[in-house]
Amino acid sequence: MAEPLVVLDNLTKRFGAGSGGILAVDGVSMRVMPGEVLGFLGPNGAGKSTTMKMVTGYMTPTSGRALVCGKDVGEDPIWVKERVGYLPEGAPAYPDMTPASFLNFIADVRGLRGSARSEAVNKAVARAQLQGVLRQPIDTLSKGFKRRVGLAQAILHEPPVLIMDEPTDGLDPNQKHEVRRLIRELAREGGRAIVLSTHILEEVEAVCTRAVVIARGRIVADSTPAELAARSKYHHAVTLSVIPPSGVMVFDELAKVPGVARVEDGGTVHADGGAKVTCTLVPVRGKDIAPAVNEFVRAKQWKVEAVRLEGGRLDDVFRELTSGVS
Ligand SMILES: Nc1ncnc2c1ncn2[C@@H]1O[C@H](COP(=O)(O)OP(=O)(O)O)[C@@H](O)[C@H]1O
Ligand SMILES: [Mg+2]
Repeated sequence: MAEPLVVLDNLTKRFGAGSGGILAVDGVSMRVMPGEVLGFLGPNGAGKSTTMKMVTGYMTPTSGRALVCGKDVGEDPIWVKERVGYLPEGAPAYPDMTPASFLNFIADVRGLRGSARSEAVNKAVARAQLQGVLRQPIDTLSKGFKRRVGLAQAILHEPPVLIMDEPTDGLDPNQKHEVRRLIRELAREGGRAIVLSTHILEEVEAVCTRAVVIARGRIVADSTPAELAARSKYHHAVTLSVIPPSGVMVFDELAKVPGVARVEDGGTVHADGGAKVTCTLVPVRGKDIAPAVNEFVRAKQWKVEAVRLEGGRLDDVFRELTSGVS
């Protein structure tokens, strides 16, 4: 049995003292094995970034401990930092540097010299696809490229543990896609433990093998991405845009479809041929309503502009998991 690369043992962080203090991370325990890509999820303020800072040695726990490759982060932070790649929230610092000078600087800090240094920088540049912007000040790069510079920095020393705090936050869809592609590539190399925080359910399903949800500093779910999505009441919901004949009460009609628990109004706009009504049909939990909805709409001969099967919504999962948590 392989050893876990990351172990959190009752990890706790309190900011401030007394009743005005905040328990940002409240006794979090888990282990991450080689090969795992763990999606660390939770609403804003849940404690994700604080947890990650303690794992990477940038913040000291109030109590409990974090171990990386078997060693307590607090006991040997330098040893641990050699084995951890960390992409902090937002963009990398050093706006006046170019990616080339920044990565060479990081390689120096990492103790890489001579050909080992240039090989490491070249490899990270190739993986993050930074060849075209190497000599441009980081400040002038797009958000997507800035994030990739941050990623190149994090993987430069080929760490067995990679911690990424919202790696795709604020990026446009193409940039998100690029960053996810890189994460999947890093995961495929195997033997590594990857932890990334995100707000996006599709991202967890696209890149993660495991989903851990944290709310108010505590773990409230630890499952597969598919199981997590299934907890959303929008799992297998159907969103429809239709142009019905005028006078038809679309919502009332659709509510009659077997298995539909509720019809949510997604707005009406004027379109060629009449009013285009968009709505989401929420199924009775566990029901697959798509075939019945299709059949119903076809029988009515409504003009269908769009149909989408929903996988689930993360904020909805958070609500489901955190309702009742005090
Ligand atoms: N340096 C700090 N000082 C005081 N409170 C903090 C500090 N950093 C984070 N917090 C608080 O701790 C809680 C968890 O924050 P954070 O870990 O950033 O959450 P997340 O990354 O999940 O959004 C929040 O209530 C936040 O306001
Ligand atoms: Mg955060």
